Parts: sequence; C-alpha cells; structure tokens
Amino acid sequence: MTDHIRTEQKDGVLTVTLNRPEKKNAITQAMYAALAEAAERGRTDDAVRVLLVRAEGDSFSAGNDIGDFIAIGSQTEQPFDMSVFRFLKAMADLDKPAVAAVRGRAVGIGLTLLLHCDIVVVAEDALLSAPFVNLALGPEAASSLLLPQVVGHQRAFEIFALGEPVDGRTAAAWGLANRAVPSAEVEATAADLAARLAARAPNSIRTTKRLMRDAAALWAHMQVEGEAFGRQMRSPEAMEAFMAFTQKRAPDFTKAG
Ligand code: COA
Repeated sequence: MTDHIRTEQKDGVLTVTLNRPEKKNAITQAMYAALAEAAERGRTDDAVRVLLVRAEGDSFSAGNDIGDFIAIGSQTEQPFDMSVFRFLKAMADLDKPAVAAVRGRAVGIGLTLLLHCDIVVVAEDALLSAPFVNLALGPEAASSLLLPQVVGHQRAFEIFALGEPVDGRTAAAWGLANRAVPSAEVEATAADLAARLAARAPNSIRTTKRLMRDAAALWAHMQVEGEAFGRQMRSPEAMEAFMAFTQKRAPDFTKAG
C-alpha cells in the first residue's frame, strides 16, 4: 500500500492521482503496483466507465524513480512479474477510455503512459520528454512502436535520442495530445471529457477502443523493449548516468561503453 497513489471512483470515472509532489511524482515500484491495481480494476469493474489519470503538484511525473533504477540495476534479473510490467500490461489490456490531465513536467513513463491514453489534455506550457538515452537506457511502454506512429520517426528519434522536452502546444500540434489549454484549465477540461465519455454507450466505446488497438501486440513489444531496457540498466554507462543524477552532475560517457 502506498499513499503516493490515490484513487477515487465517482459517476463512472475512476480517478487515479499521482501523489508524490515533493519528488515530482517520480514513480516507485510500490506506486506501479497501485497503478496496476487501479488499471486492472478499471477494466474489470462494470461501474468504471473511464479511467482519469492526473497528478498533484507542479509536475505530472518525473518518470521512473531513479533510486529504484539503481536498486534494480544491481540485480541480475529483469523479471516481467515486476510491478512496472504488471502496470504496463494492464494499460495495454485496458479497453475502456483513459483520459490524462497533464501539467508541468511529464518525463519518461510520464510521457509514454500518455501513448496509452485515449484523450490527453496538456497545459500549453507543459514539458514532455523521454530522456531514456540521457540515462543510457532505452524506450519502454511500447513507445518505440507508438511514438513514431503518432509523431513520425524523425521527431520520435529526436525525442528519444536528444531527450529535449516538447512543450504542450507542440505536443498537441504533433498529435501527442488532443488539446493544449492554459494550465489552470487542464483539470476541468479533462474532468469534463471524462464525464462525457462515462455517459457514452459502454459496450460501443469498448468495442471501438479494442478495434483500434492490438493489446497482445503492444504487450509483446513491451516485453522486447523490457529485455533491452534490462540489459542497458545493468550496463556501466547506465550506472554512470544514474550516479551523475544522484550527484547532480553531468554524466561522462567517454569511458563507459
Ligand atoms: N527519481 C527520483 N527522484 C526524483 C526524480 C526521479 N525520476 N525526479 C525528481 N526527483 C527528486 C529530486 O531528486 C529532488 O529530490 P530532493 O528534493 O530530495 O533533492 C526532487 O525530486 C525535486 O526535483 P528537482 O530536480 O529539484 O526539481 P526541478 O523542478 O528542478 O526539476 C525535473 C524537475 C523533473 C526536470 C527533474 O527533477 C528531472 O530531470 N528529474 C529526472 C527525470 C528523469 O530522468 N526521469 C527518468 C526518465 S526515464
């Protein structure tokens, strides 16, 4: 159990809140477990029509907790029964609408999670990034498949390889988000869209989503990425990147290879 994830169910909308603002909502394994439980409940509970993902504080999420990366990187295995993979599979399997409300930073899985949401509302000044290569890692959450499909190969490659953020307006122009609105309007806009979706014919909307996505293919791709990610996570270049983050310095990749 963790109080870093809050859930609330009301009028058909299961709202999942990332609630670790002091760490910019960096996601730990305990948080992934709670997120997985929410996404699984979202799929199986008939009273849930829509999943709404939002965050407390000034950042949507700073991505995977880097302290967890260091702990996991020192282990020899990368087991797919880890909470993060349970969560990713639950998102691939979710056949009800998912809505995201994004303000501030959305880093790593904070961005790639959005590729599994059907309606994404971003603040105009939000900053979305996937700096996996900065950390000497690789893409996850089927983002190496989905991001090029959404924004095109060249833009996706730049997002991954240079790790620089894309602002909310650009994200919407590139098709990564449905709407970019002033930050103060993000929550209300997303809640309104979630309420509208919750009132739609439930089986029709599930059928529509199922026809639009191949859950098995997404999960298969996530596992291929997971193998590569696990190999990188245990590499000297990744350990150098993690240490540089914790020591608040730039990484030096001239030696590690
Ligand atoms: N894992 C663990 N802790 C994190 C974190 C992460 N991914 N992201 C932020 N934090 C912690 C910081 O270490 C800091 O902790 P401290 O107060 O104990 O020093 C706290 O959250 C606030 O972060 P800070 O960097 O001071 O905030 P900022 O507003 O200056 O910058 C970010 C925000 C998101 C740009 C910056 O924190 C960042 O780049 N984080 C790492 C993102 C990342 O690489 N994620 C992994 C992607 S695969």
